[in-house]
Amino acid sequence: MKTLTVWRSQPLRGVITVPGDKSISHRALLLGAIAAGRSRVTNFLDSADCRATLTIIRALGINVHTVSSTELIIEGSGLHGLREAAGVLDCAGSGTTMRLLAGLLAGQPFLSILAANSALSRRPMDRIAVPLRQMGATVLGRQGGKLPPLAIQGGYLHGIDYVMPVASAQVKSGILLAGLYAAGITTVHEPQPSRDHSERMLRALGVTVHSKNTTITIQPPTGRLTSFDLNVPGDISSAAFPIIAACLVAGSSVTIQNVGVNPTRTGLLDALARMGAQIALEQQPSAGSEPVANIHVRASDLQGTTIAGAEIPRLIDELPILAIAATQAHGVTTVHDAAELRVKESDRISALAAELRKLGAHIEEFSDGFAIEGPTHLHGAAVDSHRDHRLAMALAVAGLVADGETVISDADCIDDSYPGFSESLAQLGALQ
Ligand code: S3P
Repeated sequence: MKTLTVWRSQPLRGVITVPGDKSISHRALLLGAIAAGRSRVTNFLDSADCRATLTIIRALGINVHTVSSTELIIEGSGLHGLREAAGVLDCAGSGTTMRLLAGLLAGQPFLSILAANSALSRRPMDRIAVPLRQMGATVLGRQGGKLPPLAIQGGYLHGIDYVMPVASAQVKSGILLAGLYAAGITTVHEPQPSRDHSERMLRALGVTVHSKNTTITIQPPTGRLTSFDLNVPGDISSAAFPIIAACLVAGSSVTIQNVGVNPTRTGLLDALARMGAQIALEQQPSAGSEPVANIHVRASDLQGTTIAGAEIPRLIDELPILAIAATQAHGVTTVHDAAELRVKESDRISALAAELRKLGAHIEEFSDGFAIEGPTHLHGAAVDSHRDHRLAMALAVAGLVADGETVISDADCIDDSYPGFSESLAQLGALQ
């Protein structure tokens, strides 16, 4: 498996773009498949996770032309045009693929089997299986439906009023997709607001979706879903790595162009602002219903902060890289209410603690988060990605401010969300 080697960096300078948003790319495929007619998606994220969703919608009978790896034409076959796949649908390591598709397939009058790789096989699926069963679908999985693979026999759904135990956009989206096929209105209540890309996209396609605070309702459409043309904005969860690298490497000045800045995703920018980061946003034309900005970052001294409560779902994927910022910030940075980190691509709390200690960081682990005391002088070491793309990239950014050489093993997982990550760092003057 590929290793990535990183050294202390000279100042980062330049203008880059990051690949398209992962969450929006998955949703564009699924909604394009059930829209009426031809949809065009540009700046699609050509990553391992999104390719899993692409392969699956093709297996369900949808024609997708790849104009290039990032430009797709989806021949949507309408709400009732999906066909039973001949074989098993392989979600690889993608939780978004499995949970969103579970919802979509619960609405189809046929059997689907959703398979997972070994990492995804450990991640909880009862959170989506339980509401889909309440809507009338049959959902089977290992350990009483708790773990992948999933077998779903869909059709004949009815709307439910469901209180979600955890804030999860994947679960919320899965329920909303099933709600497209249910008799009556479906309502979900979230403990805290999570990313709302599905709601925005469904509305843009003509579906009646209402959101009020943490309650979302969807009415099953009476007509077709309109096809669309979407230029996917850059993924703020990928931009997070060059943003924090530029904050930490003295003398840096970096611009990341055309990043999606949906307010349900910008918790990182709020936390960094409290820490004293110098970040400015320059608004750009929106991408469909998603706000977009160029993000300018200059290196600065950071202070510790506290991150908890409703801010957590707004930066859940950015906590590994925020931990690296915390090692260089003055004082203590504390994260609570983030137990979800334990069921991501790895147990991100224990994996972060284990790997950051190898680099010399002071980190205390909690059941629902961590505390890091800084600033610490990091030293390069051999570290492990735990096959988690965001952990691999966070450790690479740590290596940019560490003495000596940092070698990250199993770094090919970076392709799950940010193909071209090393090239981006090189473009900014690091890794040379
Ligand atoms: C995602 C939602 C989040 C996030 C994941 C993508 C989505 O997961 O961590 O990377 O696209 O809906 P949860 O729904 O489990 O919080």
